[in-house]
Amino acid sequence: MTKFSYAEQLDDFKSTAYWLSKRGWSEAAGGNMSIRLDAQNTTLAKLHEDDHIKLPVAVPYLAGKAVLLTGSGTRAREIGMNAEPHIGLYKISDDGRHYGWIAGNHNPSMELPAHFAIHNALEQHRPEDKAILHTHPASLIALCHVPGFDNSKTISDKILSLQSEARLILPEGIGFVEHELPGSLELGLKSAEALVRHHLVLWQYHGLLATGETLAGAFDKLEVFEKSAGVYWKLRAAGIDPVDIGKAEIKEVLTAFGRLDRYSS
Ligand code: 13P
Ligand code: ZN
Repeated sequence: MTKFSYAEQLDDFKSTAYWLSKRGWSEAAGGNMSIRLDAQNTTLAKLHEDDHIKLPVAVPYLAGKAVLLTGSGTRAREIGMNAEPHIGLYKISDDGRHYGWIAGNHNPSMELPAHFAIHNALEQHRPEDKAILHTHPASLIALCHVPGFDNSKTISDKILSLQSEARLILPEGIGFVEHELPGSLELGLKSAEALVRHHLVLWQYHGLLATGETLAGAFDKLEVFEKSAGVYWKLRAAGIDPVDIGKAEIKEVLTAFGRLDRYSS
């Protein structure tokens, strides 16, 4: 196997995978992660023509850049022990229409179309967000089975208003993508669209997608959403119908911290 050295990023994969596994959020091979590398930070040669794999849609904002991506079937509990064998390095061609494997794990996550589509949108709209994390927390998947919890606004309003700081961390709420085939381009494209406005997107009946400057940063936001969902399920289990913090109070908190402009009521 060709070796590569991105120690800082490998540490981020390793510690995030460890915590995903410890929390029971990425069962078996569930979930995947990627980090985008700037062209100037990669000393990679140009992709050889023979190594070009055509992308289903062009990713012009990724032209010449590279992505570290977990391998398909890799387990968080193993990445959490030693990341390197489980991460592959892929380079996008200068025309943004092809990609190729460069080093490391050779069998990319089946969600590669989603990771590439989202990195392309992030590079355009939120370039500081270099990391993408996908995982399957039970408390978040369970939300998709509550009648009426089938859109971004309802879930954001009902869940992020159960804890006083949740909306402060996620003022724009969470995005939502209805059920799509795992690994499909549709799932990727709809997620890319939703992630322009949100840092988290719930994949109906599937799991969560989070972005951040690092994987640890994406994990922080996931934790905040998961905590609020946990409060929801605790109340429901106790037979209490959750009464949320009022909209006026939420706006007051957001105003105090200068984040009201990111809130869409
Ligand atoms: P991979 O092991 O191919 O990354 O798939 C896991 C998954 O969660 C797909 O959504
Ligand atoms: Zn998944």
